[in-house]
Amino acid sequence: MNVYLVGAVNRQLEELLHATGSRTTLCTLDGLSGLATQAVLPAEAVVVDLRERSAVPSGVALLKRHHPLVGIVIVASSLDPALMLEAMRAGVTEFVTEPVTQGELKAAIDRVAAKRPARDPGQVFAFVGGKGGVGTTTLAVNVATALAKQAVSSTLLIDLHVAYGDAALFVGVEPRFSVADAFENIHRLDDSFLRTLVGHTKFGLDLLTSSDRAMVGPVDVRAVRSLIDCAARYYPCVVLDVPRSDATMLDALELVTKIVVVANQELSTVRSASRMAAALRQRYGKDRVAVVVSRYDHVAEIGRKEIERVMGMPIVQVFLSDYRLALGALNVGRPLVLDNHNKLAASFTSFARVLASNSSVEETETARPGGGLFGRFASRT
Ligand SMILES: Nc1ncnc2c1ncn2[C@@H]1O[C@H](COP(=O)(O)OP(=O)(O)OP(=O)(O)O)[C@@H](O)[C@H]1O
Ligand SMILES: [Mg+2]
Repeated sequence: MNVYLVGAVNRQLEELLHATGSRTTLCTLDGLSGLATQAVLPAEAVVVDLRERSAVPSGVALLKRHHPLVGIVIVASSLDPALMLEAMRAGVTEFVTEPVTQGELKAAIDRVAAKRPARDPGQVFAFVGGKGGVGTTTLAVNVATALAKQAVSSTLLIDLHVAYGDAALFVGVEPRFSVADAFENIHRLDDSFLRTLVGHTKFGLDLLTSSDRAMVGPVDVRAVRSLIDCAARYYPCVVLDVPRSDATMLDALELVTKIVVVANQELSTVRSASRMAAALRQRYGKDRVAVVVSRYDHVAEIGRKEIERVMGMPIVQVFLSDYRLALGALNVGRPLVLDNHNKLAASFTSFARVLASNSSVEETETARPGGGLFGRFASRT
């Protein structure tokens, strides 16, 4: 069970939670409001330590308002009627008082967790390149990492390149199992089997990696759908690195919340991204397909407006070109979004936030207008 422990006055509650087998994330009382406004709260329960407080922080009511399904347990030094009344007004129904025992704490958490209805499936974001080498994996990995940072340990990145994909390299892990194992055992795929296949990164992102061997037979489109379905049931956020030339994968994206087509400023890429976006929009609906531009160069001949005119749809975000930064991060297996001190990392973070909140994407970088190549390209399409 995933539990947030808020405002712990010492390590006792954390140790008791660990002893019950809970996965615990620590947060300060001041951080409650931030927790409340998080788009996704990947926890079955929130334990708030008020043993050294005589009032209920306003963040508790805010948390309950934003995440009504998350159970809250208050730990207090005694059954103070004023505190209890205040807590009940904030929507809290479970109290544990000192001396706190493992059994009482677990029983209170189990009670609030049991009241939760089964969770809706998680959000799934698929990234597919208009061409090879445009930066799709870089984008998928960094957005997934940003989502994991925003929604602690609740994001799974799946490299859907059945063999020889490179997403694992970007995050510096070498899991024992891969998507090939998932597809070859699709009949037994459930939450617990999925858990045995995924690898974990130090920064909270889980990964189902590509295989370093080819599969014996072709992958069935139903197997891909089952994998995405299973992942979305277990994880609030799933990010897919989709191979652009694999029709089976492109045909299995029904459950995907948003498909992000990645273009760059090369004529040939804009052209193929345009065709790919059109086909995906026709197949999955226009609202579910977004186009972004990677490795963006302000002074390139084809600018944002021209790409938009060719594609007949807005570019929702551009990600600046910074080869040294991108390559440096790849070489050390640490997504650059973790070091949020540059424009590229900031754009990955803001894009992740927009995807998670399901709002429309603001333009973050403006392109210079005009440009000679557009006419030549437009007349061909
Ligand atoms: N914003 C960026 N600025 C500069 N270079 C970048 C940027 N994003 C990615 N790169 C570089 O581009 C190269 C290709 O990136 P990446 O592997 O993410 O592309 P891809 O589209 O997934 O490629 P493939 O088609 O091989 O899967 C890498 O060297 C990467 O470091
Ligand atoms: Mg790639």
